[in-house]
Amino acid sequence: MFRKRSYSVIVVGIFLAMTLALLFFGSRLFTDIGEEAHITQENRIVVGVSQLGSESGWRTANTESVQNAFTQQHGYFLIFNNARQKQENQLKAIRSFISQRVDYIIFSPVVETGWETVLQEAKQAGIPVILMDRNVDVEDQSLYVTCVGSNFVEEGEKAGHWLEGELVRQRKSAQPVNIVILTGTEGSSSQIGRSAGFATVAARHANWNILEEKCAEFTSTKGKEVMKGFLRRYPNIDVVVSQNDDMTFGAIEAVRESGRTVGVDGDIMILSFDAVRGALNMVADGTINVDIECNPNQGEYLLKVIDMLEAGETVEKKYYVEEDVFTIENVTQELLQERTY
Ligand code: AHR
Repeated sequence: MFRKRSYSVIVVGIFLAMTLALLFFGSRLFTDIGEEAHITQENRIVVGVSQLGSESGWRTANTESVQNAFTQQHGYFLIFNNARQKQENQLKAIRSFISQRVDYIIFSPVVETGWETVLQEAKQAGIPVILMDRNVDVEDQSLYVTCVGSNFVEEGEKAGHWLEGELVRQRKSAQPVNIVILTGTEGSSSQIGRSAGFATVAARHANWNILEEKCAEFTSTKGKEVMKGFLRRYPNIDVVVSQNDDMTFGAIEAVRESGRTVGVDGDIMILSFDAVRGALNMVADGTINVDIECNPNQGEYLLKVIDMLEAGETVEKKYYVEEDVFTIENVTQELLQERTY
């Protein structure tokens, strides 16, 4: 009887001990996992990115570069918004990032003006703003921390310098040269910079006649439409300066449909910007004479800048990405194979 009772006491004791152990360690285990998940979430840097649109192959590559940079593995939580070419959509996106209290706001401004108020709001909320690709025209430079992008004026100058050299090479530097220019989104940094850079070089040559400059919004469809108009108005175009590859693709179609030829052995020289793979193929086969590179791989630069800011280091106001100039001489098969965009 005694034995039986003590036996059941032992069983009950063991059961109680196991239950308590389970409760104690079980809850510890649960809390630890919970805390870890919470800490991981908390430790991630939240970045709100407002991309201006998806108008070009370059833009798609730029978006991919950003999305590949701000990943969970790199310690980020990315909130991405595509503004579909509208400044009002970018303003909305930035305001939503502010109300979500993100750690950083990154945006590629569709045009340079009209940002003061929203940037002031971000500043008041204590959220650092980083500009990507393009710049803003604001008096108070403290409204953004830094800008990672291209030197658009230099890109325009590179196009001008290439044309100078080519005309010398062809022994045509004293002859009249008729030029038309397809420009990108009016008021964007890439349009303003490339136009200004090319104009500086053109101003040194009295024989360079700029017949017309017209906006084709960085798209292929518009490029073709605007080029058709140029061809109708000017029968003697020698040079097309097209401020991005997408417009160039459209312009080349228009020239060919008009019965004229383009490129190294053609009637009309083609100067383009961006150097996406499709255009580099055309440089390699002589369709495009020169392509001034605009580097869309800006994600890694942005990561470095945020690392520096997180470490409390001072950052420069502007970081230029590395860029090249491509002609038939330096577009190799290796380069084409390696090109990711
Ligand atoms: O601001 C960079 C420009 O924007 C690229 O040249 C163009 O393709 C893009 O849409």
